[in-house]
Amino acid sequence: MKAFIKIFFITVVVFCSFKNNSLAISQKKMQWLSFPKDFKWCAATAAHQIEGNNKNSDWWLWENQSGTIKNGDNTEIAADHWNKLKEDIDLLGQLNLNTYRLSIEWAKIEPTQGQWDPEAVAHYQTEIRMLSDAGIAPLITLQHFTLPQWVAQNGGWNWNGIADAFAKYSEFVYTQIAPQVQDWITLNEPMVLVFAGYLEGIFPPGLKGKFPDIIAPITGMLKAHAAVYKKLHLLAEKSDQPIRIGFAHHLRKMYPANSLNPLDLLAAHYANEAWNWAFPNAIKTGRLIFSVPFTLSANIEIPDLKGTQDFFGLNYYSSDKIHYSFSDGFKRLDPKTELHEKNITDLGWTIDPKGFYDILKQTKNRFPDLSILITENGIADATDFKRIPFIHDHLIAILHAIDKGAKIEGYCHWSLIDNFEWAEGYTPRFGLFEVNYSTLERTPRPSATYLSKIAKDNGFIGKK
Ligand code: BGC
Repeated sequence: MKAFIKIFFITVVVFCSFKNNSLAISQKKMQWLSFPKDFKWCAATAAHQIEGNNKNSDWWLWENQSGTIKNGDNTEIAADHWNKLKEDIDLLGQLNLNTYRLSIEWAKIEPTQGQWDPEAVAHYQTEIRMLSDAGIAPLITLQHFTLPQWVAQNGGWNWNGIADAFAKYSEFVYTQIAPQVQDWITLNEPMVLVFAGYLEGIFPPGLKGKFPDIIAPITGMLKAHAAVYKKLHLLAEKSDQPIRIGFAHHLRKMYPANSLNPLDLLAAHYANEAWNWAFPNAIKTGRLIFSVPFTLSANIEIPDLKGTQDFFGLNYYSSDKIHYSFSDGFKRLDPKTELHEKNITDLGWTIDPKGFYDILKQTKNRFPDLSILITENGIADATDFKRIPFIHDHLIAILHAIDKGAKIEGYCHWSLIDNFEWAEGYTPRFGLFEVNYSTLERTPRPSATYLSKIAKDNGFIGKK
């Protein structure tokens, strides 16, 4: 009898929740959805991926070694953005964007230590001026995966002189190239870089290490970030022009591969803490803490680091299902083996806007004082069939998070134009504008028209 009552009770609860849910879904109507006033509409790029001829960088050496890049692609010309500044800034105008996230190449500005290249300096000064003339606010990334060769030869992120060298270069960029720019990003995706470069060996320096090997380069990055934060803020105080400094962090929603398996549940928990939060927490508290049983452990105080972020730069692309076994350790399930083709990108990444919403909520709860800037979100989709729904669904996730109290100040789509996708070469197509690599012609994809209308109206008709 007891069992019968229990089953009856569960059935009623499930039925009611299903009914409520289906009601909720059917009640969703198309409606006008607007974004907060002064919302930043933005596209993002990185210099090495589009400019071409970055010959003093570590990536240049790396990509010219055989077997490092798919199809043997390299960035000799890339999308030739270096020679197409005016044309590409016009594209931003066509998209009605008010913000552009670009990066400046350290290897071009300072090809040998302490020597500043006048041609590169003049080039970036022109770029910043052209953006201001077009009414587009630059959001500058100081380091987007690449390093000058002389830094790499000294040990890259493991070199104990890197914080000082990076701060000198950043001071030069700020004072000589962009003193009027308000928003700055020191580093792009530190966790991606250390995993790919120091653990998996697919980015320079190409080290195939063990988990503890990421601690030294991460510490180097945190020290470099802190040094730049301090230096640029001091300079800005003297100039009376306020600036804001953050970094762009790659966050992923982590699910257990099997939610009934306690090991998978724990694995997803630790992956979330280590991959997503250790770096931003370190900046909040001044202490780098990794605590993943049998895998990664650190507790390091970093001087001058505490409180050195003025906004939370968030890159979101995808989610992972994490499995743990004692024999193989942590494993990510391959989405291709279990998802329908419509739910994955050309790179085989899961499309998961719900995961984005969840990540935004976690960010808001963990960093309630910081406003969030989506510094990257996009999809590899050569046909452009999936990009419009992708943008729609991720913007809806942003609106839901705003309703729940997240302060989200803007959205940068990755990317403005097709680009060199690091180890994957030119095959993945992330651009709102397609690049024909034979003629270098740019052609808007339908998604470019879609986003440009949203940016113009600061809203769109959708189902929330
Ligand atoms: C990086 C970009 C990259 C994009 C798509 C981000 O991880 O910041 O450089 O092209 O994702 O993979």
